[in-house]
Formats: sequence, C-alpha cells, structure tokens
Amino acid sequence: MSVMKKLVVGNWKMHGSRAFNAELIQGLLVADLATTAPNADVAVCPPCVFLADVADALQGSAIAVGTQDISAQTQGAYTGEVAGPMIREFGATYAIVGHSERRSYHAESDQLVADKAKAALSHGLVPIVCVGETLAEREANQTEAVVGRQLQAVIDTLGDDIARVVVAYEPVWAIGTGKTASPAQAQAVHASLRAQLAKATPKAADIPLLYGGSVKPDNAVELFSQPDINGGLIGGAALKAADFAAIARAA
Ligand code: PGA
Repeated sequence: MSVMKKLVVGNWKMHGSRAFNAELIQGLLVADLATTAPNADVAVCPPCVFLADVADALQGSAIAVGTQDISAQTQGAYTGEVAGPMIREFGATYAIVGHSERRSYHAESDQLVADKAKAALSHGLVPIVCVGETLAEREANQTEAVVGRQLQAVIDTLGDDIARVVVAYEPVWAIGTGKTASPAQAQAVHASLRAQLAKATPKAADIPLLYGGSVKPDNAVELFSQPDINGGLIGGAALKAADFAAIARAA
C-alpha cells in the first residue's frame, strides 16, 4: 500500500462565495501541487452551486473536483436533489456520500448511502463513502461494529463494484472539533475496514482508505505514514490554501 499515491480531498462543506473560491483556487494553483506534492492526487468538493465555476478555474490543473453529495435517483421529481449525470456534465470525478453531517442532519440511512454510492458509480463518478462512529459509540466499544455495519451496507449493494470506491473513515467526534484520532486509533479502524473489504472481494483489498477529522498540516505526516491510511478527507483546513497544500505535500 505504501507505494500507492495518496489521495487528499478537500470538503469545503457549506462555505465559500465566488470571490472566496477564486482566491482559494488561486492559492492552490500557485502552490503548484503537481510539482510540490507529486505523491498526492488532489481534489476539492465545493458546494454544488459552485461546481461549474470551480471546475472551470481548475481546468488543466492537477486538481480534480467532486461534490459533497449526490442523489440516488437519475432524474425526475426530486426537489432539491442533484443527479449524477448533472454532476458529471460539469467535469466532476468524485462524489462524497454518507458524510456524517448528512447521516445525522438529513437522516440518511446506511441503505440510502449505499444507493448513492451505486448511483455515483453508474454515472462515472467515484464515490467517497464516509463511515464513522460517534463519541458515545466509541466509548461503548462499538467503533468497529458501527463502521463495519455502515460499510457492509455498501458492500452488499455494490457487490464486486466495492473495489471501485474510496472509503473515508471519519470519527464523528473528531470532525471540526480539533480532536484528531491518534494515528494508532485511526490505523486500527483502517485495518479492520481493510480486512472487511478484502473479505468481500480480493479486488477491494487495495482501495484507498482516507482518514478525516481535524487533519492539519502538523498531524498529516504521521497520519499518512500509517500503513492503511491512503490519504485524507479535509474539512476546515481545506479552506486555507496554504494549509491544504501543506497537507497534500505531507503525502
Ligand atoms: P474537519 O472535517 O477536517 O474540519 O474535521 C472533515 C470532514 O468532515 O470531512
């Protein structure tokens, strides 16, 4: 695994404006990540309404784009939803699915998340499937059971296509809190996810497993050096070009 390129994805969440995004992208382009972070594949996921702007601004650069969510449906009377073909039309490569903020604030079930992953794949997008436990679940020693259940729903729905996804482990208690899982804590969960994937199909044994939750320039190197951590899903630090570039370089 260690020879594989790392994947570093910025999740901008519900932040930004056209002016803010232009400045952030300018900072990322100046950082010249293709040269300064050759060991990282990099992507950013802005709010959907900015997808066209951001994809245009990044065209020709080494930075890919993605969305923070995707509809499980292809088209139709689904007010407020954005479908895979629309996302694809604007040049996106990735779609985050099952972020804990969507699971908790929008009541997304394990099955809906699995259906979204399936929709992404069927429209030529790589789903970044998020899993993670709450603090209460961790304290009750439920971490592996919870993330295992979340991942299994996706495995059961995709079958062998599970080998085409990216998985992001994001402990809910570490998101936006400044509390990072220790490299050893993250590695332990990643190893269990890796084993579950390998058991599902040997082809899935090597898919990228990202860690997310308060990744910063000063903890990225240690996290990324764990054997089963293949990159990061970055929230707050992705809104500062210098920090995001430093995390990409940490790969
Ligand atoms: P954070 O968010 O880096 O701000 O903790 C990560 C995420 O929610 O993807």
